[in-house]
Amino acid sequence: MSTGPGTAPTTLPPPPSASPLDPTLHLLRAELERRCPANAVGVDAMGHQAMLPAGKLLRPLLFTEAAAAVGMRREDTLTAALGVESLHVGSLVHDDIIDGDDLRRGRPTVVARHGLPNAIVTGDALICGAFRAVAECADGTIPGERQLAVVRVLADAGVDLCRGQAMEDELRGDPGCGLDRYMTMIELKTGALFRAACLGGALLAGASPGAQAALTRFAEHLGRAFQMTDDLLPHTSDTETSGKSVLSDIGNGRPTLPVLICWQRAGASGRERLTAALSGAVPADAALDDLRAVLSETGALEQARAETLAESRRASSALLDLPDTTARDTLAAVADLSVNRGL
Ligand code: IPE
Ligand code: IPE
Ligand code: MG
Repeated sequence: MSTGPGTAPTTLPPPPSASPLDPTLHLLRAELERRCPANAVGVDAMGHQAMLPAGKLLRPLLFTEAAAAVGMRREDTLTAALGVESLHVGSLVHDDIIDGDDLRRGRPTVVARHGLPNAIVTGDALICGAFRAVAECADGTIPGERQLAVVRVLADAGVDLCRGQAMEDELRGDPGCGLDRYMTMIELKTGALFRAACLGGALLAGASPGAQAALTRFAEHLGRAFQMTDDLLPHTSDTETSGKSVLSDIGNGRPTLPVLICWQRAGASGRERLTAALSGAVPADAALDDLRAVLSETGALEQARAETLAESRRASSALLDLPDTTARDTLAAVADLSVNRGL
């Protein structure tokens, strides 16, 4: 179609990107919608409802950008990247069962909407779908051993995630459990999948050992920073913005980062109040009010925020060992976004 003189062009140029993440997010969203047709039924339909509308898509974004940072075409990464999202969303479906949550991404959780048996099988199907996606991801151009390496890191991450969820249950109600155990727990329940996303992308792209190591270091710091930020959300955000309940952590007696730092800074009476708030003996909204009071008296939130930002800076520093590319800039932007959500 031609555009005559004086007439408006029929196709406008794309608007300038608001964020360096946008072009890859656009690719991922289009592919995700293509893979989740509206006519699905049963467990497939429930899985699609969990996947779409999508969340932040950080893990597939990391997968694609890690691969791009070492020279792979983004378009060739999308199937496997969305496999990582499938594993993530499957773990969220199960996490909402464990945490008894009925809101996720601002909409009812699968367990709230479809009941426990359906939520269990939907989570299982999404997790298995991750491995199917990696098996399907190549059209003969990617050596099979690279696909196998991605399967291995995803499987390791899935097992670690379960270990982390189990450890979180062990720490329930214990505000004095200590930062070392907390760090181990978040590295397992959250960091493992960030690591698998970055290392998986690197492996699919055939990255050098040096680039794999840099991306792994980046991901490990980022995974910690991400969960530390998530722990701050009940104190820095609201349900409307985060799309999930501010009462979940306190209602489940979770010793989150602010609680643990507060424990270190508090005296005997502050510690007693923390123990009571996490005990489950007080209604969650009253417990959150009490917790907020002790956090404010001790300055724990400020310290938690400072430690979170330091972790994010360590993530960005790890990227300096990679070649200077757009993908590297995008990975740095993910680190920045991860600690600045909900503020
Ligand atoms: C939620 O992850 C689970 C945590 C590790 C805290 P995200 O905040 O990335 O969830 P979505 O995918 O954007 O909804
Ligand atoms: C995050 O668990 C990690 C996993 C889903 C395995 P959380 O319970 O901390 O995350 P949210 O706050 O429900 O998203
Ligand atoms: Mg949860």
